[in-house]
Amino acid sequence: MRIGVPKETYAGEKRVATTPEVAAKLIKLGYTVALEQGAGAAADLADDAYRAVGVEILAEASALWSSSDIVLKVRGPSHEAPDEVALLPEGGRLISFLWPAQNPTLMERLAGRRATVLAMDSVPRISRAQKADALSSMANIAGYRAIIEAAQNFGRFFTGQITAAGRVPPAKVFVIGAGVAGLAAIGAANGLGAIVRATDTRPEVGDQIKSLGAEFVPVEYQEEGTGVGGYAKVMSEGFQRAQLAMIAKQCAEADVVVTTALIPGKPAPRLITAEMVRSMQPGSVIVDLAAEQGGNCELTVPGQVVERHGVRIVGYTDLPSRMARQSSQLYATNLLRLIEELTPGKDGTMVVNMDDELVRGATVVHEGAITWPPPPPRLAAAPTGAPSAVAPPPVAPAPVAPAPVLSASLRSLLVLASGALGLIWLGSVAPPAFMAHLMVFALACFVGYMVIWNVTPALHTPLMSVTNAISSIIAIGAILQISSPGVLLTLLGGAALILTTVNMVGGFWVTQRMLGMFRRSE
Ligand code: NAI
Repeated sequence: MRIGVPKETYAGEKRVATTPEVAAKLIKLGYTVALEQGAGAAADLADDAYRAVGVEILAEASALWSSSDIVLKVRGPSHEAPDEVALLPEGGRLISFLWPAQNPTLMERLAGRRATVLAMDSVPRISRAQKADALSSMANIAGYRAIIEAAQNFGRFFTGQITAAGRVPPAKVFVIGAGVAGLAAIGAANGLGAIVRATDTRPEVGDQIKSLGAEFVPVEYQEEGTGVGGYAKVMSEGFQRAQLAMIAKQCAEADVVVTTALIPGKPAPRLITAEMVRSMQPGSVIVDLAAEQGGNCELTVPGQVVERHGVRIVGYTDLPSRMARQSSQLYATNLLRLIEELTPGKDGTMVVNMDDELVRGATVVHEGAITWPPPPPRLAAAPTGAPSAVAPPPVAPAPVAPAPVLSASLRSLLVLASGALGLIWLGSVAPPAFMAHLMVFALACFVGYMVIWNVTPALHTPLMSVTNAISSIIAIGAILQISSPGVLLTLLGGAALILTTVNMVGGFWVTQRMLGMFRRSE
């Protein structure tokens, strides 16, 4: 099949949907790749670099669209002048950002062309889909760039210095919302040497904030902030009041405020009032990443930098495009990973398998039918052996069903009977203490098996570390031995005690951290 990559038509958009490096991998996957002349120029990617890996360069957008089986774009197709939807061949395939909820007319028109469309913003947030999660890669860039824009607009160093000309205090950065963008902003600000504080309604991100070297500022109000799918939820009025009071205090102390607070599908919460802006020092900077969804700050103007009460408020809505080369590379890689999933034969043939959770989630129009919204993602992977254990229909054709069931129970009866006979024989020859130990061992195996079987597979890793900690019960043996006569035994007992203590404490500590991470993404 042929993949076509047109030049982005949205004003100011500098990204391109594939880079020479990724195009080479698409070709290896069996596709032929064509690019509209100059499509990568704004991201510093010359046509010649694409040509060198075997990409065909076409001068006309219309020729590119009409000759492509699959079109890759960054922004959704424009449906005014130029009308890209009209350029998409009947029954064509398109992969790009689309925002189906905000663009019902576009969805109708794409369905009208019997198209199959995968929206990069609809890739489900499940672990297997992380490699294709373009929203996260773009938010990561946006968070980093927010700090660069803040530094550009801020008239001082970020890092503290002691020079012959006097002491320079470090800048104080306050980050609101520690999702993907917020965490990237914390990392970048910390890297520049600022003192960073951050807040979020989900208390479990506190650990991540701290691990990036920032201070977590919680809202002093008891309420669980995590909603469905690990995203935040709308908080109660009492919480919101307490949060505003905390933010007002932090804003008055901060030099730079970066706000990224958002709940998907909801307008951005208003967290910084005009009054708070007025309380900031002149020369301070606010970067409002949620500008496009209405802004976290009351005074933000989307797409612009404005100065209010001596504070510069940056409301850019194109932060990833301002780092076009980097964002094109990451976006193109996300697309490649999705296309790999769609090309099971690695033969340049795209198969849109609607039974695959990842593909189903991202497909918003399938052969002319609108398939958005998708069913909610299934939670944690089911144990691979479980379905066959509880769902036998495929192996139970009606006419022969009774015979295998009978023989199976007969077989297990035989196994049980021979096991019992074996035990009776063992009991008659082995010493009584051996039998007692054997029973405890068998029961321990049974209980352990049942416990693990009933734990969700997603939690097996933390379970392993906690069992590791518990296995340090061997410490009891060490304690018993430590008081035995003989220096060697005492020394060995002491060493065993120290090692098992490390194992125990470490095991519980790792488990705690892992459970924290699971809570965020459950
Ligand atoms: P995310 O969903 O990973 O993170 C949002 C965070 O905000 C979550 O941790 C959530 O708990 C927190 N939050 C929600 N409501 C809150 C509240 N009332 N108070 C405090 N925290 C709250 O989202 P991501 O991917 O980090 O994106 C963040 C924002 O950046 C979004 O608004 C997104 O549209 C925007 N963005 C902007 C770009 C630009 O060019 N301006 C580019 C990419 C993303």
